[in-house]
Amino acid sequence: EKGGYDHFMLKEIHEQPRSIRDCFRGRLNVAEGWVSLGGIKDYENKLIAAPRLIMVACGTSWHACTVGEYLIEDLARINVEVEYASEFRYRNPIITENDIVIAVSQSGETADTLAALELAKSKGATILGICNVVGSSISRITDAGSYTHAGPEIGVASTKAFTAQVTVLTLMALMLAHKKGTISESKYRTLLAELDAIPEKVQKVLDSSDKLIQDIASLYSKATNALYLGRGNCFPVALEGALKLKEISYIHAEGYPAAEMKHGPIALIDEEMPVFVIATQGPSYEKVVSNIQEVKARKGKVVAIVTEGDVHVKAMADQVIEIPKTDEHLVPLLATIPFQLLSYYIAIMRGCNVDQPRNLAKSVTVE
Ligand code: F6R
Repeated sequence: EKGGYDHFMLKEIHEQPRSIRDCFRGRLNVAEGWVSLGGIKDYENKLIAAPRLIMVACGTSWHACTVGEYLIEDLARINVEVEYASEFRYRNPIITENDIVIAVSQSGETADTLAALELAKSKGATILGICNVVGSSISRITDAGSYTHAGPEIGVASTKAFTAQVTVLTLMALMLAHKKGTISESKYRTLLAELDAIPEKVQKVLDSSDKLIQDIASLYSKATNALYLGRGNCFPVALEGALKLKEISYIHAEGYPAAEMKHGPIALIDEEMPVFVIATQGPSYEKVVSNIQEVKARKGKVVAIVTEGDVHVKAMADQVIEIPKTDEHLVPLLATIPFQLLSYYIAIMRGCNVDQPRNLAKSVTVE
């Protein structure tokens, strides 16, 4: 049942080239140059005209929404608000009939996310869902939605469901941007082709970095704290990296937007503190490089995820993990993978039960 892997989590990490590909099926056609999300087709015009989209979710799914916010705002120029479902539902939120509330949930059963949708529905908003479990409560109460098609996720720590959520949101951003005319035809075509190449690049990350990540894991498996930094659409990847590490290895970890480090967390940095940084080529590369220098100046240990062939960060970081080059909008789908493997191996080295970490449930059906 674990397909030859020691744990479901590792199996699910390795399934990602396929689960992302499954998520494209019938939705992405590079040769003909289109993206279509059948489940929400009837709502396309409403989405494009919406003054804003509100996304509600918890945990890892909230991180996927935050990646989606960067993509939809940047590519489709639609205002997006990402909300913790538990906060949203209890703060008397302003919701009108013009609003579209999108819930993102692997299980489709998370109590707070479900209740947030019910509230939005009672105010007349359109409610959409992005779920993994077919026929789940959220998929049933929503007006329409798109499944992530990642297949059953057994490991409590979400891995392939997260990348599938990010994939659906990326498809949605591209569909909306194209329909709205906010990106050029050539940019659209380039992004479709780059997205189509993601499954094989994920495979490449899995194949090329596994051994290296085990070595890095052995260096930091005794850490008591860790910091994860990223900028732009990789800030939520940093949050997700930190969540994965704390969930399964019980190491205290924090994710931060890299520039926020100097507003507090920099005080924590010493020789004992690993800092995991996403430093891929792109608009914020230079800025992240300065953040790395700030960590090194305080003797922190830096493990950086870099674009294949990078030499600059390699010269200053303690360890680097290379990922293939892709369009900057798609980096989250690749940069997530080494962090999943890293937390897996660190947890194993600490003797933790990775598939069923203490105090956690796969589906949180109570608030
Ligand atoms: C983390 C994790 C949780 C869930 C959260 C929401 O690995 O699995 O943070 O993401 O409980 O669950 P869903 O997506 O089922 O609504």
